[in-house]
Amino acid sequence: MTSAPKKLFIKTYGCQMNVYDSERMAEAMGGEGYVQTDRAEDADMVLLNTCHIREKAAEKLYSDLGRLKALKLDNPNLKIGVTGCVAQAEGDEIIRRMPVVDLVVGPQSYHRLPAMERAVQAGGRVVDTDFPEEDKFDILAARSKAKRGPTAFLTVQEGCDKFCAFCVVPYTRGSEVSRPADRIVTEARGLVEAGVRDITLLGQNVNAYHGAEGGLAGLVGQLAAIDGLDRIRYTTSHPNDMDDALIAAHGNEPKLMPYLHLPVQSGSDKILKAMNRKHTAEQYLRLIERIRAARPDILLTSDFIVGFPGETDADFDATMALVEAVGYGAAYSFKYSARPGTPAAERAEVDAEVMDARLQTLQALITRQQRERQDAMVGQTTTVLFEKPGRNPGQWGGKSEHLHAVHAMSDEDLRGQIRKVRVTATAPNSLTAELIG
Ligand code: SAH
Ligand code: SF4
Ligand code: F3S
Repeated sequence: MTSAPKKLFIKTYGCQMNVYDSERMAEAMGGEGYVQTDRAEDADMVLLNTCHIREKAAEKLYSDLGRLKALKLDNPNLKIGVTGCVAQAEGDEIIRRMPVVDLVVGPQSYHRLPAMERAVQAGGRVVDTDFPEEDKFDILAARSKAKRGPTAFLTVQEGCDKFCAFCVVPYTRGSEVSRPADRIVTEARGLVEAGVRDITLLGQNVNAYHGAEGGLAGLVGQLAAIDGLDRIRYTTSHPNDMDDALIAAHGNEPKLMPYLHLPVQSGSDKILKAMNRKHTAEQYLRLIERIRAARPDILLTSDFIVGFPGETDADFDATMALVEAVGYGAAYSFKYSARPGTPAAERAEVDAEVMDARLQTLQALITRQQRERQDAMVGQTTTVLFEKPGRNPGQWGGKSEHLHAVHAMSDEDLRGQIRKVRVTATAPNSLTAELIG
């Protein structure tokens, strides 16, 4: 007699790298007899894959743990694990503060989850926040061959050596490591066999990738040779690692999509220096010019922090001017959040109301630019990779080359198809299109 499979619920916070890690953790736990559920109430094990980037992100862990406590009262066999960047940053502090937690494992050690699960089932409480010598990707089982949707993330690089003054990532993810190109190509082939046509290569500093000859551009070239892989993207890049070969690839590698997330954080040289970004606003603008020379229609996005310690009205105006000069397709903006252990956390903070006002002003400009870029798409033809049915009958949703969300009507099953469309209208966060091929 076989026993019913145990159920695993994973909640993912934070960046795409956590999304990828959650998939890998679910696959690793599959080897222990777990299947995934989307209801925490049904689970035998809950993993919270956390983010430490801003205070609010980190606090979510504790409010979720509060709610899980009630579930554990109903089901004393429920095991609760904390993974990801808060696990790395706070380690056994979590176990001490939260008796409800059974295991804590950092992003570099999750290949040890199956062994930790066994220890937990035996009644233990375990913490592992090592930066182990061994490569977790060598130890994790091969990826599942099960059919999947047409898009996937693939982590190629982890960690960060940049030490921006506000950022916890170098501490939670450790120093930069690149995975060997042959392993990545093998993983990409497997994803394509499972139905994937669009892969986004991930790294905290993905364009610092050095696991292939020619760096990230070299890796993109190797992946572009895979039949059935039609679209390649990568994120997140640092301006100082955009080398000539990568810029050129945007012009001459048709599978490399015309989309680039290139965070600048601020338009003020004084603030960029205080942030330890190691480039000026002018250097960033020149870089954008070179990228646009290679691929004129590329859609650019960025991240911004407002209210970094020392930011004056004039510094903020410089950020607004930079945004005006670039013309982004979209961007994320955040209020500065002091993070324990980072150099900027020691500095005097900008007034909270000033930060709020600046955030609103910046977001209004970014929203306007996003809308302008979308409006400019109306009447244009592009291709869309359709992923799933939309909300209305006969409606399908997918992504354009520029990563716009696109809806189109069709009686066919468009899932996994790349089709030519003409854009007919825009909404705040999506485009409407008609099939023309
Ligand atoms: N590696 C990426 C960023 C990773 S963090 C890069 O260098 O661009 C994602 C974004 O979160 C950052 O770009 C930054 O805008 C924001 N962020 C990071 N730390 C922050 C902090 N302490 N307060 C507010 N925003 C922060
Ligand atoms: Fe953080 Fe800077 Fe590294 Fe990006 S480059 S992960 S912002 S330290
Ligand atoms: Fe958050 Fe860690 Fe990603 S802090 S943004 S989950 S690298």
